[in-house]
Amino acid sequence: MAKVNDNYLKLPGSYLFSTIARKVREYTEAHPEARIIRLGIGDVTQPLAEEIVDTLHKAVDEMGRAETFRGYAPDLGYDFLRNVIAKKDYGERGCDISADEIFISDGAKCDCGNIQEIFSLENRIAVCDPVYPVYVDSNVMAGRTGAYDPEKERFGNVIYLPCLEANGFLPEIPEEVPDLIYLCFPNNPTGAVMKRSALQEWVDYANKNHSVILFDAAYEAYITEEDVPHSIYECEGARTCAIEFRSFSKTAGFTGLRLGFTVIPKELEADGVKLHGLWARRHGTKYNGAPYIVQRAGEAVYSDRGREQIREQIAYYRGNAECILKGLRAAGYSVSGGVNAPYIWLKTPDHMTSWEFFDHLLEKANIVGTPGSGFGPGGEHYFRLTAFGSRENTLEAVERFKKL
Ligand SMILES: Cc1ncc(COP(=O)(O)O)c(C=O)c1O
Repeated sequence: MAKVNDNYLKLPGSYLFSTIARKVREYTEAHPEARIIRLGIGDVTQPLAEEIVDTLHKAVDEMGRAETFRGYAPDLGYDFLRNVIAKKDYGERGCDISADEIFISDGAKCDCGNIQEIFSLENRIAVCDPVYPVYVDSNVMAGRTGAYDPEKERFGNVIYLPCLEANGFLPEIPEEVPDLIYLCFPNNPTGAVMKRSALQEWVDYANKNHSVILFDAAYEAYITEEDVPHSIYECEGARTCAIEFRSFSKTAGFTGLRLGFTVIPKELEADGVKLHGLWARRHGTKYNGAPYIVQRAGEAVYSDRGREQIREQIAYYRGNAECILKGLRAAGYSVSGGVNAPYIWLKTPDHMTSWEFFDHLLEKANIVGTPGSGFGPGGEHYFRLTAFGSRENTLEAVERFKKL
């Protein structure tokens, strides 16, 4: 008799975005005249840059001619893309990462979710609270956690690192030593960043304790401040304790195209085994490579014209973040994030719960955001707004906030 993986049954169900969608639908049905502004979901809205579109067209034409047609891509990625990433994302920042330590994939979500497969089920993970849910849920599915405690809203056998106002929304070194440490900076959902010296402390800690840091740098393109590292490999010793995830989604608007990569330095070991070889084996067995045309589009992101156009897009979203941050601060709200990240983390007024504030904002201002409690109990009494809307809607939303 077939049996299911009952670890999946431990998951309480992801009600966050479906509950938001239902509430918005019900409100719109009751108030068809309302002009809703959505600052909730973390998806980009600007079209692909011209250079990317031109490159895609050229690559499609290549696929349509016998002499330039390509079949399966190399499962670890085309050299043209791995080389340019090694040079521009790492070499130019003084990081020692070679092209063959870069594994191309169809996005950071899959890699963040799949990476746990190469580690023992006996490993104990540590995650920030609030957190991007993929890190926890993928470990639940694998059976690395205990049961879910609905009262605490936490899984057993997971070390939670509270990221609250009191600690500047940054995790502190825990008492118990985790084997795997998930860090994401610039952070989703709080928009907080870790300065180089703070990240260096985590790197030193991981090296000392033989832990592995799983560093999600999906939002590095939004960094504006000098002392905030774009890569964990800017820290000394990271090559022996860290894996890094990157995404083209928020950097170049590839949420619908799908492209990302994972970096595993060759000397990184767990239990005397090189992780590079394990991930290469996993990739080779379970993945057949990102599409040629998308990898060519990824290469174009690093061309002079591509870089310039993408810089403009990011500046546009950053401008939105600045409008929200300044506007809400002027209106008396307590807000953080938004300087090195496309997310603004808003403290709900009058001790409202995150969901109470959601309803209040929807009904009184017709604005949709994301309740912070959806990212974990540490997010309760907070609310996430994103800078991914249009400038017009963002400005209008700020005006509505002021009138609340
Ligand atoms: C922290 C973080 N990592 C990874 C991803 C997913 O990236 P991708 O679109 O490359 O799968 C997201 C998407 O929202 C994210 O917020």
